[in-house]
Amino acid sequence: MTSTLITNIATLVTNDPAHGDGAPLGLIESAALVIDGDRVVWTGRAQDAPAADTVHDAAGRAAIPGFVDSHSHLLFGGDRTAEFNARMSGRPYEAGGIRTTVAATRAASDAALEANLVRYLDEALRQGTTTFETKSGYGLTVHDEARALEIAARHTDEVTYLGAHIVSPDYADDPAAYVGLVTGEMLDACAPHARWVDVFCERGAFDGDQARAVLTAGKAKGLIPRVHANQLGHGPGVLLAVELEAASADHCTHLTDADVDALASGSTVATLLPGAEFSTRAPWPDARRLLDAGATVALSTDCNPGSSFTSSMPFCVALAVRDMGMTPDEAVWAATAGGAAALRRTDIGRIAPGARADIVLLDAPSPVHLAYRPGVPLVSDVWRHGRKCR
Ligand code: NIG
Ligand code: FE
Repeated sequence: MTSTLITNIATLVTNDPAHGDGAPLGLIESAALVIDGDRVVWTGRAQDAPAADTVHDAAGRAAIPGFVDSHSHLLFGGDRTAEFNARMSGRPYEAGGIRTTVAATRAASDAALEANLVRYLDEALRQGTTTFETKSGYGLTVHDEARALEIAARHTDEVTYLGAHIVSPDYADDPAAYVGLVTGEMLDACAPHARWVDVFCERGAFDGDQARAVLTAGKAKGLIPRVHANQLGHGPGVLLAVELEAASADHCTHLTDADVDALASGSTVATLLPGAEFSTRAPWPDARRLLDAGATVALSTDCNPGSSFTSSMPFCVALAVRDMGMTPDEAVWAATAGGAAALRRTDIGRIAPGARADIVLLDAPSPVHLAYRPGVPLVSDVWRHGRKCR
């Protein structure tokens, strides 16, 4: 194994509270770090850095952990340009638009689905995402859900079974039978390829009882729950997620005080997806309220062809700072360590000895620039698993 010293880093975000003044980002100024193989083995002040086989001069850039995008839907065919156009002319966003993508996804070959996935992964990597979760949910047959997960598992460990995205159009007259399929034969076919089970608990998708049935069946098969909760209106999703000890409740756009209290006192991470509010012109989730209550907040793209067609974590950071009451430091933490927490991972989302060497250099001296310079492609260098890939 060869070691690499990255030095002359203006500001290093470690997310390691051992550094800095105890603030969550664990900042080190005038810093360096050493990678050996796929791991970080040293962090500290540049003047104290040990020797390494090769040296990379960061030339005064900031370094942050690679972004952890803990919520995306990248196994799909087609796009929904027409729906977006209609929405920007005043039409509301509805869960039913998913059916358009279901038809296009079923019609796509395995090779086309995989090529599409790889295209968006490359796009995300260029913007600093080194770990991503992705879901099924646009197949809604046993075959189409299982093949989506099989393809996803070739590219990430963080694969989520979302057979319960909407009731399949084939079961429009018998939603109970579809829930039976999702919790039975479809789950049996999908569970071997997935780590997580998810459900869209929302008006127009699945109610609280149906969502509970999906999540408990998934749990019985060894999958860990995460929930699409309280996106389009108030509902039972968040409380159900906390009750079932889901890793994450995602969206959290419409929350009661009881929802906020539950997230603050339980282990479930609140994952906010500002790309969805941006692209549906919905009200912003109130990150400030969640943080002040003591909840753990993650930020993620929700990249999908309907409600949020962005793969850009820097864009989500900028929106969260501008419109959701987060400070730049809180947003950067939420997009890195927060995503790791939502995926129950301790090896990513931080730059510390023993962590995976997923490192991003920014063409800026400080991570604050991610929000301060919105829309600017600041990601200049990326190491993933210790390999420089950009
Ligand atoms: O997270 N909310 C449900 N699923 C996606 C939307 C999917 C779609 O519109 O195709 C979401 O926003
Ligand atoms: Fe989603």
